[in-house]
Amino acid sequence: MGEIVRLQKYIAMSGKASRRAAEELITSGRVRVNGEKITELGTKVEIGADKVSLDGKDIKPEMKKYYIMLNKPTGYVSSVSDQFDRPTVIDLLDEEIRARIFPVGRLDYDTEGLLLLTNDGDFTYKVTHPKFHMDKTYIATIKGGITVKGLNMLRSGVKIEDYKTSPAEVEMLSCEKGVTVIKITIHEGKNRQVRKMFEAVGCRVIELKRISIGKVELGNLPLGRWRYLTSHEINYLSR
Ligand code: URA
Repeated sequence: MGEIVRLQKYIAMSGKASRRAAEELITSGRVRVNGEKITELGTKVEIGADKVSLDGKDIKPEMKKYYIMLNKPTGYVSSVSDQFDRPTVIDLLDEEIRARIFPVGRLDYDTEGLLLLTNDGDFTYKVTHPKFHMDKTYIATIKGGITVKGLNMLRSGVKIEDYKTSPAEVEMLSCEKGVTVIKITIHEGKNRQVRKMFEAVGCRVIELKRISIGKVELGNLPLGRWRYLTSHEINYLSR
């Protein structure tokens, strides 16, 4: 007999969604067990015996967990497939893990740097949900200069669309040859947040690179290359 788990755990184990997001998939009627639509959250399934499908496609729990770090180059989308057929970050991985792994959050097409990938939905939730306050640090290169007032506005929070950003850590690293380089740490993950924050203070980001997530650093991993996270890094990020 296989292990018996709750349906939402089974879905999270397949890497398709975090346990929370899996609950929504179930209640919205997108999940079937042995062909029968299930909307009850308490439902239990047996791994290896019950057949579970999401939107009509069979899903299987991956028992082995993968946690990797990629130094994403610009010109790649942070998803497993792209409607415009652009290269995806998955294309940069080795054949044997490609089918099993998903980006943890996203970096823009034109952003480079530290991107985590995993098949552990709960890990993704811990790293990406703003309530866990996981700091993300970026190096932003902006065109021209920035005023002290602009830096302080970024520090205290700026309005992007109808949202006020949380206080950020901001440090100017250099200002020469018509560009300014700024280190900025935020813990939220709104779409294009760093670029929009700079726009809100009248600056245009021309290069953006993520260098760390919490205490986990990109270090000297070459552009376009990946490595497995250490067990220390995994424990720290999923604490
Ligand atoms: N903020 C952005 O503007 N872009 C990213 O890719 C990440 C954070």
